[in-house]
Amino acid sequence: MKNKADLIVGIQWGDEGKGKIVDMLAQNYDVVCRSQGGHNAGHTIWVDGVRYALHLMPSGVLNKDAINIIGNGVVLSPKSLIEEMQQFADLEGRLFISDKAHLNLPYHSLIDQAREKLKGENAIGTTGKGIGPAYASKINRIGNRAGELLEPQKLCDSLMQTFTFEQTLYQALGIKTPSREELLQELEGYKNKLAPFITNTTTLVWQSLDAGKKILLEGAQGTMLDIDHGTYPYVTSSNTVSAGACCGLGLNPKDIGDVTGIVKAYCTRVGNGAFPSEDFGKDGKMMAEIGKEVGTTTGRIRRCGWFDAVSVRYASRLNGCDKFALMKLDVLDGFERIKICSAYEYKGEIIDFVPSDLENVKPIYEEMKGWDSVVGISDFESLPEAAKEYIWRIEELTQTKVGIISTSPERNDTIIL
Ligand code: GDP
Ligand code: IMO
Ligand code: MG
Repeated sequence: MKNKADLIVGIQWGDEGKGKIVDMLAQNYDVVCRSQGGHNAGHTIWVDGVRYALHLMPSGVLNKDAINIIGNGVVLSPKSLIEEMQQFADLEGRLFISDKAHLNLPYHSLIDQAREKLKGENAIGTTGKGIGPAYASKINRIGNRAGELLEPQKLCDSLMQTFTFEQTLYQALGIKTPSREELLQELEGYKNKLAPFITNTTTLVWQSLDAGKKILLEGAQGTMLDIDHGTYPYVTSSNTVSAGACCGLGLNPKDIGDVTGIVKAYCTRVGNGAFPSEDFGKDGKMMAEIGKEVGTTTGRIRRCGWFDAVSVRYASRLNGCDKFALMKLDVLDGFERIKICSAYEYKGEIIDFVPSDLENVKPIYEEMKGWDSVVGISDFESLPEAAKEYIWRIEELTQTKVGIISTSPERNDTIIL
């Protein structure tokens, strides 16, 4: 049978715990790939009390035997990646960057931040990392790709030309572009650090598949932040759903194998936009405190609320999930009652689907009994009965099996079913 690539995808608004699961699974994979997003992602991994925060680096990097690929669909900030690479000594031969990945350069961040400021209370609440402007350059066909870093003079000419064309925009936003000398120096610096890693990753992924290697695709952000299927315009600028991974790596849909959706046992969102099951009271505060819900990339406090079975079922279908990994179950320890949003009220009717104007729904809840503690439990039978009931109800409402349950940030505190 043809070898396939397994996929990990965020099901809610990001920060579900993808990093932990990719790191854990990566111990048994040969290749780990990122296919979209950029350094807006923040994937936290804890191993034996040591914390790693990854942004562009695939979360397979802690498995010394795995190779890591940054695919063509990623927008690559050379500056951010070079900083991140300093945590790891031995990357040559096990990190590969697509020569087709578009560059996310400092001026993209300046545009992102200036636009957000101008929008005032309508701001998206972006990470300010230049993601939207970098993808816009790509779609506008004025972008530059990682392969061009190998010829800094030429890349510099191209960028100086773009700066001239886009002058009106930069002036309106109050952005100062670098001089040719400054820019060239910056680009030479990137080339010196990144040249050994830039290659044709499309063929590398194909060769790995054909050689029977085990490949894991690591999603960034979450389904509800997808540019097409999320809560537009309060979304990120890439296709975060499983289908996006094909375009972002040069795979075809038949190359995708098992799809695991990563889902928090409750729900969080950072930035603005609809969040029907958000809890503004003490329960939401408790989730934020116990769950340490502070953004890995921007340090912002995440908004918290109850598990939204309607949007999770939608996301499961969009991604073709074979199973879920249910994360952070321990954060609900000690809650007397736990709510699940099982339907929405929308224009005077009860609905069980996600409308394109999600900001206009009201959540309808059912309540379940809480439990004392699940922290660190690593076998299903040892879970309190109420926790098992909660998991079974989630499976029922979302029509998706839970195959992995996570009970602490540590790699080994995980139940595999
Ligand atoms: P990602 O962006 O999906 O990789 O998720 P983040 O790393 O941004 O956020 C998830 C946070 O939850 C990280 O700080 C993880 O260390 C932590 N985490 C992951 N799984 C668990 C869990 O089961 N329990 C608890 N308490 N924390 C977890
Ligand atoms: P990981 O991979 C959570 C959010 C931002 C903002 C919106 C647009 O760690 O799950 P952007 O900078 O992408 O233009 O911001 O998307 N966002 C994330 N939220 N987790 C992420 O990544 C996110 N990446 C972007 O907060 O609301
Ligand atoms: Mg994150």
